[in-house]
Amino acid sequence: MNGAKMANAVIILGAGLGTRMNSDLPKVLHPIAGAPMLVHAMQAAMVLDPVRCVVVAGYEAAQVQKAALAHDPDVTVVVQAEQLGTGHAVAQAQAALADFVGDALVLYGDTPFIRPDTLEAMIEARQTHDIVVLGFEAEEPARYGRLILKGGQLDRIVEYKDATDDERAVTLCNSGVIAADAATLFDLVAAIGNDNAAGEYYLTDIIAIARARGLTATVVECAEAETLGINSRFELAQAEALFQNAARMTALDDGVTLIAPETVYFAYDTVIGRDAVIEPNVVFGPGVTVESGATIRAFSHLEGCHVSRGAIVGPYARLRPGAELAENTRVGNFVEVKNAVIAEGAKVNHLSYIGDADIGPRSNIGAGTITCNYDGVFKHHTSDRRGRVHRVEHDAGRPCQRGGSGDDGQRVGHYPRCARGRSGRRAGAAG
Ligand code: UD1
Ligand code: MG
Repeated sequence: MNGAKMANAVIILGAGLGTRMNSDLPKVLHPIAGAPMLVHAMQAAMVLDPVRCVVVAGYEAAQVQKAALAHDPDVTVVVQAEQLGTGHAVAQAQAALADFVGDALVLYGDTPFIRPDTLEAMIEARQTHDIVVLGFEAEEPARYGRLILKGGQLDRIVEYKDATDDERAVTLCNSGVIAADAATLFDLVAAIGNDNAAGEYYLTDIIAIARARGLTATVVECAEAETLGINSRFELAQAEALFQNAARMTALDDGVTLIAPETVYFAYDTVIGRDAVIEPNVVFGPGVTVESGATIRAFSHLEGCHVSRGAIVGPYARLRPGAELAENTRVGNFVEVKNAVIAEGAKVNHLSYIGDADIGPRSNIGAGTITCNYDGVFKHHTSDRRGRVHRVEHDAGRPCQRGGSGDDGQRVGHYPRCARGRSGRRAGAAG
């Protein structure tokens, strides 16, 4: 037991195949709100400020490793070649934590919604108990492991398959999340056998072993929704819905106007400022920040972009990665912006594609304007920082242009050059 604040390490189990997902993608990589469920678990653990994070991968381990490292380059991924049970999975993390001293917290990669304060409560409970297990009162206890209490202590965990009728009547269930001193945890795990109904090395067996050794164990309880594990596409969809409902409530509480909250979809990392207005049917992919007072009009799709104060986007706009909208810009209907900076006050109001470009302050990009950024081999950058008015004239349905279209691989630059020389138009005259 430890009085002082200990260092924490996190072990995330994610070797399972996830048969019921019926997928080639490892279960823990299925996304919720744009991030693999594994990343949600990794994020949840961040509240403990862990000095180490070890992910146990198995099925398609290389893919799992790639996703884990993409989120956090400091994570260690170990491979459990054969899935012999949760206890065996934890044992795979031992070498990676050989020189670690402190508490280890075991999480599941397919249980993405554990709240930060729940994990903090577990670490708090470690001050008084050797092992802390996260439990919940299950409405439908089904096949969860049951937490058996005795004399104010957690006495053992019984897996459903191995439980008696009396034990199955217990509704306090095991979430799978366990905290203990790392050295103690690995000692206990080494003592687990596989003489049980599943022939697996159950992590849950460490409780009875610990109690027999005179160690103490307790349960911290959380809401059932937090421990929601995902095993099927249906449960994945349920998890998505839960996430979205929570994200909508958070946005509303944070002072964002959502006219029809149930039609707005957030990513795990969406940031929206106070007094922003989000109209119905807007989808946020990963990596979006919207500043205070911006408006995202209906049916717009945004990912990897930044929208500044006072900007108005949509309706029917698409902002792709690298779109940077400065203050008071307008991006209107059927406009796609990718990897482009739209400087302060500039307008791209209708039917345009602005990609790999730099648009100057107060420019007015006319209807039907596109930047031809791709010549079939190379991507080119278009820069127009002069704040002009661009117009595109149409001739028999084809944009007026020089040197071929963007599709035929010849033209580099942007159509609006054809409008050059049409003198006397003020900014604001077009579009
Ligand atoms: C486990 C618990 C059960 C608990 C339930 C909560 C055990 C023995 N049982 O049962 O008490 O109520 O979770 O959902 O621990 N994994 C590996 N390698 C393995 C086996 C599993 O990495 O060899 C990973 C899985 O990918 C998953 C997690 O461990 O993320 C849990 O495994 P799972 O097979 O779902 O355990 P349950 O039978 O649900
Ligand atoms: Mg499970």
